[in-house]
Amino acid sequence: MKIMCVVGARPNFMKVAPIISEIRRIGTALPDHAPDVVLVHTGQHYDSALSDKFFSDLGLPSPDIFLGVGSGSHAVQTAEIMKKIEAVVLVVKPDVIIVIGDVNSTLASALVGSKLEFDGRKPKVAHVEAGLRSFDMSMPEEVNRILTDHVSDELFVTEKSAVQNLLREGISPERIHFVGNTMIDTLLNHKDKAAESKILNTLGLKNGAKAAPYGLLTLHRPSNVDRKENFIEIIEGLREVSRQMPVIFPVHPRTRKKIEEFGLTDWFNPDASAGEHGLIMTEPLGYIDFLCLMMHGRIVLTDSGGIQEETTCLGVPCVTIRENTERPVTLNEGTNVLAGTSRAGIAQAVARQLQAAAKPSAPEKWDGMAARRIIQVLTGLSAVEAMG
Ligand code: UD1
Repeated sequence: MKIMCVVGARPNFMKVAPIISEIRRIGTALPDHAPDVVLVHTGQHYDSALSDKFFSDLGLPSPDIFLGVGSGSHAVQTAEIMKKIEAVVLVVKPDVIIVIGDVNSTLASALVGSKLEFDGRKPKVAHVEAGLRSFDMSMPEEVNRILTDHVSDELFVTEKSAVQNLLREGISPERIHFVGNTMIDTLLNHKDKAAESKILNTLGLKNGAKAAPYGLLTLHRPSNVDRKENFIEIIEGLREVSRQMPVIFPVHPRTRKKIEEFGLTDWFNPDASAGEHGLIMTEPLGYIDFLCLMMHGRIVLTDSGGIQEETTCLGVPCVTIRENTERPVTLNEGTNVLAGTSRAGIAQAVARQLQAAAKPSAPEKWDGMAARRIIQVLTGLSAVEAMG
């Protein structure tokens, strides 16, 4: 069996890593049953800080095939990936194409895989992190999620709400597999390494042997950063917390461009130096350093999807700067609250979260075994056989 895994953007890399390790593990334990794996990187994210650093932090092998697609409008980026991936699939001839998450690379590869035939057969398309819904079609990711799910053959789901969403959309239950969360597999595998990161010292966040209280901020959604008024409203909502403690802000390239274009650099502190409060900009960080910052943070403020899940697992209060979430388990069982995007909403949510007692939570099947379950479904190996 040949499995082709396609990745393209930062949030894909930590989700594919345990799938590749599981295939390697079976290769060692059961050489006759091991699938061949081909890793394809579309190049949607190409900056070393968003891509190469993650490969080295996660111990991922270099991609077998790099498409070098780069940035562009949604149409251009999606079309370029489709054109290039079609040629690759026809050469690789995989039995299964694994696509991950909700980025443009995910949809482009799923669409191509679902329509191609070679040697009288079709590859299966398997979607990891299927079924999540924000019910907000203005998000490009929501469009990518829905379309990818409907053209995929096997749907691997992280939380129960996603099973219900897929059933409601008429997808047959045999295609749906509730396996858990491969991003949490990676988090559990890398916590010890992250505990040894020196990033707290580098950013002057050590108070003796312990971490000083600090916040951690990420913002990159087009709806939050592409319009100046919206962006300023959010920064003002964060003013109070950034008076109380430093708020570390590793800045996504999209957001950095907007800060410069809107003339907002004065709102941020470009240097992380000991004891400084304010919103402190840094370059985007690698996986291990960012995980370390999440683990020790007093509060995390974000518009990302995955960070809502990681903070739930770590037991760190999270404020999501969005009107909705496609990951409701983080609200119902985890440490996440939705703040919306108004100044008052953000300030209130932050104040509430700073009072609340948070503890780590493991939603069902977030146990480090998701990749193993996925490979069992795809290879047909039983749990006992797969143990080797
Ligand atoms: C993409 C995903 C988003 C995910 C995010 C994580 C889609 C629709 N969006 O958004 O779901 O949360 O990745 O980061 O797929 N850029 C660089 N260097 C890079 C990549 C991008 O400078 O390596 C700049 C480019 O100017 C580009 C812009 O960032 O135009 C946006 O990049 P793009 O890949 O289109 O989307 P993201 O905002 O990164």
